[in-house]
Amino acid sequence: MTLLVALSGWDAQTWVDRFAALLPDRNVVALGEPFDRREVHYAVTWKHPPGSLAGLPNLAAIFSLGAGVDHLMGDDRLPDVPIVRVVDQDLTGRMSEYVVMHALMHLRQQPRYMAQQRRGVWEDDRSQPAAHEVRVGVMGLGVLGIDAARKLRMMGFDVAGWSRSPKDIADFPTFAGEDGLAAFLARTDILVVLLPLTDATQGILDYELFAQLPRDGRLGGPVVINAGRGGLQNEPDILRALDDGKLKAASLDVFVEEPLPPDSPLWQREEILITPHNAALSAPDAIAAQIADQIRNVESGGALRNLVDRARGY
Ligand code: NDP
Ligand code: OXD
Repeated sequence: MTLLVALSGWDAQTWVDRFAALLPDRNVVALGEPFDRREVHYAVTWKHPPGSLAGLPNLAAIFSLGAGVDHLMGDDRLPDVPIVRVVDQDLTGRMSEYVVMHALMHLRQQPRYMAQQRRGVWEDDRSQPAAHEVRVGVMGLGVLGIDAARKLRMMGFDVAGWSRSPKDIADFPTFAGEDGLAAFLARTDILVVLLPLTDATQGILDYELFAQLPRDGRLGGPVVINAGRGGLQNEPDILRALDDGKLKAASLDVFVEEPLPPDSPLWQREEILITPHNAALSAPDAIAAQIADQIRNVESGGALRNLVDRARGY
C-alpha cells in the first residue's frame, strides 16, 4: 500500500521522511519517483501538478497539507474520492495571533509611528480610539474566523461576523449570505478576511465592496486585513481605493501571484503591511501525525474527519 506525496513549491523529501517514520509498514513515495499506480491508496498534496492524481485506481482519500483546498479544486482531473483538509489547533492559534496583531497595529497607528521613526519624527496628535470604539467585521466564520473573532472580542473590539449560512453565536452578532453583506459591511471599520477561495468568493474584495465600508469610523477610514487567499482580492482595486480614501490601510498576507512579484506596486505603499503568506504556517510534524492518525483510524473502520464539501469548494 503506497502513500503518494504530491507537492510543488515545498520540499517533498522532508514529508516523505516524516510519513515513512510514522507509517513504517507503507511505501511512501514522492511524485517523480517510480511507483506502481495501482498500489496508491492515499495522496498527500500541496499544489500538486494538475492531472497528476488521475489514473490511481485504488486511491481512497486525498489529504491537503493546508487548511485551504483551492489548490486542489482547480484540477479538473481530480479523482472523485474524499478530500481531507487541515484543522489544527496550533495553526488556528497562529492565525488568530496574526489577525489580532494586525488589528491592534491599525488601532494603535503602528504603521504611522514606524514611518515617523524612519524620519526621526516625534509626533502624536492624541487621537487614540479605544478598541471598543472600533467595529471589526470577520468575513468567514469557520474554524479560523470564529477563533479570531473571539480573540478580537477579548481585546475589546466591537466584533461581528459574516458567513455563507446563518449562525447563532452567543458572543457576537452575525450576518449571512449576499442578503446580509451590505449591513455587515456598513458596520465594519476593520474588515478581516478569512474566507476560502471558491467560485463564489473569487475577487469578492473589489472596489464596489470597499466603497460600502463606512468612512466615518474612529480609525479615520476602513482597513482590510486579508489572510484568506490572494484570489479573493482585486489588487488594482485595493490601490484605487487607497488612492481615493475608500480604504485607509491594508494588511495583506496573500496575493494573486505568490511570491509577490518585485515590480508589484503593492510593495511601494506605506499603507499596506505585507507578509509572505505566513499568517499561519502548518507545523509539519503535527500535520503529518494527524494524517497518519486518520489513515490508521479509517483503516480500522473509523470515519475520516475534516472532510471538504466538493460542491461548496471548501
Ligand atoms: P472553514 O471552511 O472552516 O470556514 C470557511 C468560512 O467561510 C465558513 O464560515 C463559510 O461559511 C465561509 N464562506 C465560504 N464561502 C462563503 C461565501 N460564498 N460567502 C460567505 N461566507 C462564505 O475554513 P477555515 O476557517 O479553516 O480557513 C479559511 C481559509 O483561510 C482557508 O480556506 C485558507 O484559504 C485560509 N488560510 C490561510 C492561511 C495563511 O497562512 N494565510 C493558513 C490557513 C488557512 P459557512 O460557515 O456558512 O460554511
Ligand atoms: C493553508 C495555508 O491553507 O497555509 O493552510 O495557506
